[in-house]
Amino acid sequence: MADSLPLGVLVSGRGSNLDAIAEAIETGRLVATIKVVICDQPGALALDLASRRGLPAILFERAAFSGRTAFEEEIVRTLLRYGVRLVVLAGFMRLVGPTLLSAFPNKIINIHPSLLPSFPGLSAQRQALDYGVKFSGCTVHYVNGVVDGGRIIAQAVVPVQSDDTEETLSTRILTEEHRLLPQAIGFLVF
Ligand code: GRF
Repeated sequence: MADSLPLGVLVSGRGSNLDAIAEAIETGRLVATIKVVICDQPGALALDLASRRGLPAILFERAAFSGRTAFEEEIVRTLLRYGVRLVVLAGFMRLVGPTLLSAFPNKIINIHPSLLPSFPGLSAQRQALDYGVKFSGCTVHYVNGVVDGGRIIAQAVVPVQSDDTEETLSTRILTEEHRLLPQAIGFLVF
C-alpha cells in the first residue's frame, strides 16, 4: 500500500476544493493526509470547514508581517513542522514568492478555473465568457514565479453554453475542479 502523502493546503476563501480533497481522502479515493490548512483571510469559510473536518488550521494575516518574505518564512516553518511534502493552493489568492517556492521546489500545485494558458489571473470564467470560447474548464499546475504559469499536470474540459452566466459557468467548472484536484494529487509520484 502507498504511503500517505502529507499535504499542506493553503486557502483564502470558501474552501470547497479543500473539502473535495478531504472527501476524497475520507472515501479512500486519495491516499494522502491533510497535515495542516493555512489561511490568510480571517473569517474565511475554509476555516470553518477545516474545523468541522477536524483539520488543524492556522490563520496568518499578511498585514501582521513586515513583508512577504517574513510572511512566507512563517508559512514554510509551519509546513515543515507539520511534515508537509506537497503544498496545494486551493483558492489561495496570493502570489507565491521565492521564499516559499525555494523551500518546496516542484512541490507546490494550484488549481485554476480555466484551460491554461488561456485566461490566467482573476475572473477566469468571466474572461472565457467575454472572449466567447466554446470550451473552458480547469487546470491543475505546478506553481512557479509566473501567475498561473507553471507546468500543467491535469486539465478537464467544460463546454460553455450560449446562455451561461459567470455564475452558471463557474458552478459547472467547480464541479470538475472537485473531481480533478484530488485525482491530480494522486497522479503525482514522490
Ligand atoms: C476555485 O475556482 C479555484 O479554481 C480558484 O479559486 C476558487 C477557489 O474556490 N483558484 P474554493 O475556495 O476552493 O471553493
